[in-house]
Amino acid sequence: MIRIQNAIAKLDTPHTTLLLKLEDRPKILYYGGRLRDAEDYTYFGLGTDGVLLSSADDVHCEASVLSSSGDGNNRESMLHIIGGDGSGTLRPVLIEAKIKKGKPDYESALPSSYGAKESLLLRYLDSMGLEILQYFSVFGDSDVIATSVRIRNTGKETLQIRRCMSLQLDLGEGNWEAVTLDGASQRERCPNRTILRGGSLSAASFAGLSSNVHNPFVIANNRHARGGSVACNLVWSGNHREIFDLSPVSGLRLLSGLNDYLFNYKLKPDETFEAPEAIFVRGEKEEDVCMEMRSFVAEHIVRGEWKKRARPVLINSWEGFLFSFDKEKLLEFCRRAAMVGIELFVMDDGWFGNRNDDTCSLGDWVANRKKLGGSLREFADEVRKSGLMFGIWMEPEMISKDSDLFRTHPEYALSVPGKETLEIRHQRVLDLTNPAVQKFMIGAISSVIEESGASYVKWDCNRGIFDLPGAEELFYRYTLGLYKVLSAITKKYPQVLIESCASGGNRYDLGMLCFTPQIWASDNTDARSRLAIQEGTLFGYPQSTMGAHVGSSPNPHTFNSSSPDTRFSVASAGAFGYEFDITALNDTMLENIRNQVTFYKQWRDVLQFGRYYRTDSVFEGDASGWIVVSEDGSRAVATVALLGKRCGGVPFRMRFKGLDPNALYAVASRPQKRANPIAFQAYGDALCQGNIRLGNVFTEEEMHAYSNEVVTRMFTFTRIDR
Ligand code: GLA
Repeated sequence: MIRIQNAIAKLDTPHTTLLLKLEDRPKILYYGGRLRDAEDYTYFGLGTDGVLLSSADDVHCEASVLSSSGDGNNRESMLHIIGGDGSGTLRPVLIEAKIKKGKPDYESALPSSYGAKESLLLRYLDSMGLEILQYFSVFGDSDVIATSVRIRNTGKETLQIRRCMSLQLDLGEGNWEAVTLDGASQRERCPNRTILRGGSLSAASFAGLSSNVHNPFVIANNRHARGGSVACNLVWSGNHREIFDLSPVSGLRLLSGLNDYLFNYKLKPDETFEAPEAIFVRGEKEEDVCMEMRSFVAEHIVRGEWKKRARPVLINSWEGFLFSFDKEKLLEFCRRAAMVGIELFVMDDGWFGNRNDDTCSLGDWVANRKKLGGSLREFADEVRKSGLMFGIWMEPEMISKDSDLFRTHPEYALSVPGKETLEIRHQRVLDLTNPAVQKFMIGAISSVIEESGASYVKWDCNRGIFDLPGAEELFYRYTLGLYKVLSAITKKYPQVLIESCASGGNRYDLGMLCFTPQIWASDNTDARSRLAIQEGTLFGYPQSTMGAHVGSSPNPHTFNSSSPDTRFSVASAGAFGYEFDITALNDTMLENIRNQVTFYKQWRDVLQFGRYYRTDSVFEGDASGWIVVSEDGSRAVATVALLGKRCGGVPFRMRFKGLDPNALYAVASRPQKRANPIAFQAYGDALCQGNIRLGNVFTEEEMHAYSNEVVTRMFTFTRIDR
């Protein structure tokens, strides 16, 4: 898969080839569709091949995978380092290239992908007194390549690393479009398309979390006839930055790595600095790189006992009760949930200390016996008696000023002497760079898991970091501290399913997914909003990672109304659950939920782990749609959501994707209220080519209803073996 010949490294994935010419500064000769092995590739070139066109300041504008301060480039570069003498001229020279089985075998404090087949290791030296190790790993079953750099101080003086990106890809000229997943709380990861005309576009986060503002997953689409799409992502949960730098001289440079905001890492002699791992993939079309990224994440990022295991149907107490519950209320909630087939109960915020609102008690992870009517163990046992697994909410990285923890250890909270500490949601951030705090956290989480026997933990984090002692290394070291705690907990309790959360989806990234197989996508459970949030999330992350729940109607965040069927169809795109007061439902409503849960369980393997294809985009028209297909093509589920009424219009037609063209399928609609049932047989080729008429998706009744609710239908496909 990797070979070096005539000073050219050839990295092959199943469908792509990356050719690097191994000179002082390796050059990208080619990155595109898979090539056969040949003796000579010197006719390839990207960028300007050293020919100076117009800019006298770009003397090294060949396409490369590494660049640095002072290297003769008039644009964004990958490494900025200040030497012991205050100089900033960094011109590392490649001195060794070798191929190694698996990944480089150094001990790492950072999470990264696993299962690599081979790696290309490039070693560079610079007279500033440093050594750089850069690797590129290939996986055999994926077109994704993983890469990172490590810097060792080989000199006698402390170096200052001001910027250390993990990935540089010079993609050359083209008509480039950047796709970034942008948003805010309640509208996370909505795709934005920006046509690049020159200059640079950066997607970055600044508050210590990967953020809902700009996700680290980005795509560069070349709209030029030569085409091609490249996507990348970063295995990191803190501040990140992706830069699209479009130079009129040498085309597009894509960088991904740590955000250099306030960053200035002091690397002492003999010490090593590790950048997070970045992953990247190239394909002919945007949907190809998205598909490849999703399967890579499911196969080479998510790990542990829950990697391929069916995720339980859960019910969470938050939207239904907020802080106001007691033992009787919760147990009745569990009994109802068990009756309809729900498998896991999650007791959200409000169960510990004196927590009856959000003003206190974070850090005091001891059960409120008054609310729970006894100890955590006694209460959790009662939940299990009702037939459900027990899950629990924690926000381990936080501390309330009004807490016993703060009264005993005020120094555990991040703060700067002489400055008022910023309170957000009445809480402060624990100083995870402090080993004593890490130890406290591991102890607190362990005792909650052990006392309750929890099968699931919702790991929340509801604010960013704005109190910045030791700012230059704080963000980096905070994330390392977080990984240390997560790693200790997941090693100790591999059976516990952890779902991470951050005010909804404020930390949806590959770093978290190395420890927590699921992430709560958004607090916004409104079907209409979720269609956008989920479509964006699924650009780069597989369905099994995406927490998605049926909430109540009207929705508490948007006040939109939608039918139980609509809410179910939308939420069943991910790791599924409910989040409303189930004790308020009458028997007919409960029966409807029972049918939903039965259906979800029947199709859960496909819904959670099947190949996902978008059939209609919520951002492009009046419909949203997707189909998930089992790995062997034998089963599939499609969902269609219409966003508004189509009075007097043409009935809705579908063109599916991903089905086996030679297989005959039995197609059936999921029975739901108001919908006319549909059942027919057709071959995969017809289903994927034609405009399949699915009847009038809107019934008369729906078209004349007062509201303009989202209406959905679901279809199942079962291969008929003859
Ligand atoms: C955050 C989460 C919610 C809920 C609350 C509890 O906002 O995103 O899902 O857990 O905290 O306080």
